[in-house]
Amino acid sequence: MNPWKTSRRIVLTCARGMVPFLLTETAGLGFAIRGETETAVETEGSLTDSLRLNLRLRTAHRVLYHLATLEADGPGSLYGGITDLPWEEYIHEDGYLTVTCTVNNPTINDSRFVNMKAKDAIVDRMTARRGRRPDSGPERTGAVVHVHWQGNRAEVFLHTSGEPLSRRGYRQIPMAAPMQETLAAGVLMAAGWKGEGNLVNPMCGSGTLAVEGALMALNRAPGLHREHFGFMSVRGFPEKEWDALLRQARKEGRRSLPGRIVATDIEREAVAAARLNARRAGVEEHISFSAGDFMRTEVPPGDGLVIFNPPYGERLGDQAVLGELYGRLGDFLKKSCQGYAGAVFTGNLALAKRIGLRTNRRIPFFNGDIECRLLLYDLYGGSRKPDRGV
Ligand SMILES: C[S@@+](CC[C@H](N)C(=O)[O-])C[C@H]1O[C@@H](n2cnc3c(N)ncnc32)[C@H](O)[C@@H]1O
Repeated sequence: MNPWKTSRRIVLTCARGMVPFLLTETAGLGFAIRGETETAVETEGSLTDSLRLNLRLRTAHRVLYHLATLEADGPGSLYGGITDLPWEEYIHEDGYLTVTCTVNNPTINDSRFVNMKAKDAIVDRMTARRGRRPDSGPERTGAVVHVHWQGNRAEVFLHTSGEPLSRRGYRQIPMAAPMQETLAAGVLMAAGWKGEGNLVNPMCGSGTLAVEGALMALNRAPGLHREHFGFMSVRGFPEKEWDALLRQARKEGRRSLPGRIVATDIEREAVAAARLNARRAGVEEHISFSAGDFMRTEVPPGDGLVIFNPPYGERLGDQAVLGELYGRLGDFLKKSCQGYAGAVFTGNLALAKRIGLRTNRRIPFFNGDIECRLLLYDLYGGSRKPDRGV
């Protein structure tokens, strides 16, 4: 079986709360939806299809190409089942191999043991068939195999992303409490950002929302800045097809924006980091950065989206001071952002009440383990303006 041409199940994993956006993205790329769970969307396609999914999906963490489902009641049967798979067809014997896993099996209390057992099974098979075996270790710089073991069932995948897709490759300086790139993209989608109006992001921190917003508005594929994906180390990687996909993605990108993107933060260091991250993402020229209190953020005339990810006390800041900050944030939205859609992403609903504006939607998300909300506000002032596609 040539996996580059054979259609199989593909599981796209994501953070909790992101499934609705990942469903829309997957269907938008023309892939059929075969199922969903709380943290994954299922579709089908060949390994070649995984190239496009990895390059284009903004909200997925991993693109997993299904190889086999094994009956495994313990480490011995897992080893046996994995040894039976034709690894020599997928992996270079002189390459580098990493095994990752998610495990929920009563015989296992350390998932590293499963990684080791599965890795042994693969390299033993390759030594038997090819007389040589790949090196192995934790760095996902070569081929990556993922094992998802629940009860007596182990699913084995080629992990075509390698490093999670949230690591776009542009963010070198995360600053305090950064948002994952995938979460920022999902939050912007939920806030209705389509790149048509202005995007204003006070309290930008390391600039993740502004950078992701710019990439979306410019129609730039999020994977264009990554140097390595797991699929590149799978035997038979069609380099020419990958180059063609990259060329096509670059051609489809917009060169300029209809609106402006403004990002500010009170910390000069954060602004410098955000600017550097934007430069690495190739969007610096599209974002106006400045340092200062958020109340002084320029809100360009017209309409668009103003989006905040304020500190919320779990990891940064102090509640009393933050209460005052959220109150001022509400004043700013009310007085300085008329004509805009407003959005506040926070993990602290008590503080959110201090904003003092009526939400028109509250969308649940998770930032790591912290349950968060995206609060959406209409800030249309006296006369309600029509939606111009923020
Ligand atoms: C949760 S972090 C934002 C993280 C950001 N979304 C990212 O991905 O890096 C909150 C930011 O609010 C900024 N901040 C706090 N008080 C502020 C104020 N009064 N005016 C402007 N920025 C402020 C902090 O410096 C911090 O960078």
